Amino acid sequence: MKILAINGSPRGEKGFTDIVVTRFLLGAHKAGAETEKLYPAKMKIAACIGCLKCWFETPGICRHKDDMVEIYKLMQHADVFVFASPVYVDNMTSQMKKMFDRLISISEPFFEFEGDRSYHPKVVDRELKAVAISTCGFPEREHFEALSLTFRRICANMRARLLGEFYFPASSMLVSRPQKVEPQLSAVEKAGEELAQTGEISQETIAAANREYVEDYRAFCEEMNEFFHKVRRKRGLE
Ligand SMILES: Cc1cc2nc3c(=O)[nH]c(=O)nc-3n(C[C@H](O)[C@H](O)[C@H](O)COP(=O)(O)O)c2cc1C
Repeated sequence: MKILAINGSPRGEKGFTDIVVTRFLLGAHKAGAETEKLYPAKMKIAACIGCLKCWFETPGICRHKDDMVEIYKLMQHADVFVFASPVYVDNMTSQMKKMFDRLISISEPFFEFEGDRSYHPKVVDRELKAVAISTCGFPEREHFEALSLTFRRICANMRARLLGEFYFPASSMLVSRPQKVEPQLSAVEKAGEELAQTGEISQETIAAANREYVEDYRAFCEEMNEFFHKVRRKRGLE
């Protein structure tokens, strides 16, 4: 099984999101999967300009010759995608969105209709699977609502089965209180293992990974504010 993780954080391996992605891939790797991680923010990816040359002039080939060529190649060979992004203004980062927009060139223009919805025909005939991961700064889980819907819509449009979503609010706790978040991170690692072993992730493991760890939202906010004031004072800003 080949797993391709795409982490849209501009902070890359130094960011909070990568802590979660790394644990997922660790579990999968231990259970025998081949894993690879990409950071679109570190790659040269031009924004789609909607010219549709990739549909009507050079089918399947985008006019932009940049690092998307490498991403297209890796995507063609992956069995599972891990789509990961921190929440930026309630959604994915712009670096990640640019990458998703550019996937239009590896889709076909035709509209197919099945059940009660239309979609572009699939360009690969393998069964595609995906996993979604995100972190956000605020403590409430509702901050993932829009991004979760976006990930679910993207997977439906790609005709990839979304096996599980793993969301970590109050993301600074991943570093400031690692022991509090460890049970959830262990469950993420287990999810990776299960995926590599069985091709599926159990609902029990998904629930364990998404279990609440912020005990008191107000206290968390106060703690964050204390930290922000301390940093500003140290820099002579207060
Ligand atoms: C431009 C920007 C927008 C953000 N928007 C939100 C937001 O809408 N909701 C939220 O809870 N956190 C928001 N955050 C906080 C990040 O989601 C959070 O710090 C995340 O864990 C960063 O992940 P990373 O370290 O992997 O980059 C934002 C951060 C930045 C820099």
